[in-house]
Amino acid sequence: MTNTLLILPGDGIGPEVMAEVHRIIDWYGTKRDLKFDVTEDLVGGAAYDAHGKPLSDATMAKAQEVDAVLLGAVGGPQYDKLDFSLKPERGLLRLRKEMDLFANLRPAQCFDALADFSSLKRDVVSGLDIMIVRELTSGIYFGEPRGIIEEGGQRVGLNTQRYTEAEIDRVARSAFELARKRGNKVCSMEKANVMESGILWREVVQKVHDESYPDVELSHMYADAGGMQLCRWPKQFDVILTDNLFGDLLSDVAAMLTGSLGMLPSASLGAPMENGRPKAMYEPVHGSAPDIAGQGKANPIACILSFAMALRYSFDEGAEATRLEKAVEKVLADGVRTADLMGAEGGTPVSTSRMGDAILAALD
Ligand code: NAI
Ligand code: MG
Repeated sequence: MTNTLLILPGDGIGPEVMAEVHRIIDWYGTKRDLKFDVTEDLVGGAAYDAHGKPLSDATMAKAQEVDAVLLGAVGGPQYDKLDFSLKPERGLLRLRKEMDLFANLRPAQCFDALADFSSLKRDVVSGLDIMIVRELTSGIYFGEPRGIIEEGGQRVGLNTQRYTEAEIDRVARSAFELARKRGNKVCSMEKANVMESGILWREVVQKVHDESYPDVELSHMYADAGGMQLCRWPKQFDVILTDNLFGDLLSDVAAMLTGSLGMLPSASLGAPMENGRPKAMYEPVHGSAPDIAGQGKANPIACILSFAMALRYSFDEGAEATRLEKAVEKVLADGVRTADLMGAEGGTPVSTSRMGDAILAALD
């Protein structure tokens, strides 16, 4: 099977961090005979500058065809005044919506060399490796009715938490499948104590488990308690499954257990395509970082680890994904640091491309 990849570097530091991923893709082609058919295109402000839209129809069509989309970041102050429908972020949202990427995977992993970066004690986070699966295309951010309405002489802000059984079922399956490839444990979080949508969520997750994944260990937790447990002893978790709203909050909390934004990858997965691979987009959690763009300061690791996720979840190359993650771990253990990873101990930061050099050397 050919491996097709659409690369959308985007804006700000996006192209800088993506340049390092290109070098890694080349390494796999020459050193491991693992080839990718790569197309590169524009998204966000870069696409707006070129053709007046944050994502062209042709790029959208290409994204639907490939095995995986790898996106850098979009946005920047020069686009802040654009009409809402033309903003760079709309390009990203269109990709997520039209590809129907309903399962957002956010790993929170703590490399031992960076454990002192955390606001928590070293032994609480060192070696941490958990995965949050957030439902991404439904729930309160999309439910109707919504809006600001007039009622009894005052304005009322209104949003609706709404989940169908099918929406819960499919994201639960993603979480259980993932758990089987990891620690075989899922903790599902909602507020079944106060929300009917949470009651249904719990029921459906339990049913999917009992019928299709009885071998995976399943527990349920109220999302507020889950937030506390994440800060108290995060290593108790393997996969956390949750809805769009709680997932937004909990994944940001989990991210900060482990340190810098420059380290955090993500994946968004949809339904399987004809070749059995899921629709997929991979991207670093960070934005376009206009404050450091064009200065060679950006940490490329979040984008590189996003490509590692693509190897694992789109291309079924789990061993190669681990190889890449180990290379990153080694470089960090050797003390190689971009500016965002400079702790109290000081030292001299390396540039984006020097970090790429070090990771390539570790791969060799
Ligand atoms: P940001 O993530 O771009 O930057 C936040 C801070 O973290 C900045 O100080 C930045 O220098 C630093 N940082 C981020 N990534 C880094 C990296 N790889 N290496 C070193 N330092 C890094 O978030 P911010 O500043 O709120 O947003 C900037 C622009 O990015 C805005 O236009 C925003 O809309 C957009 N954005 C885009 C996202 C995306 O494409 N998925 C996500 C978040 C923001
Ligand atoms: Mg958030």
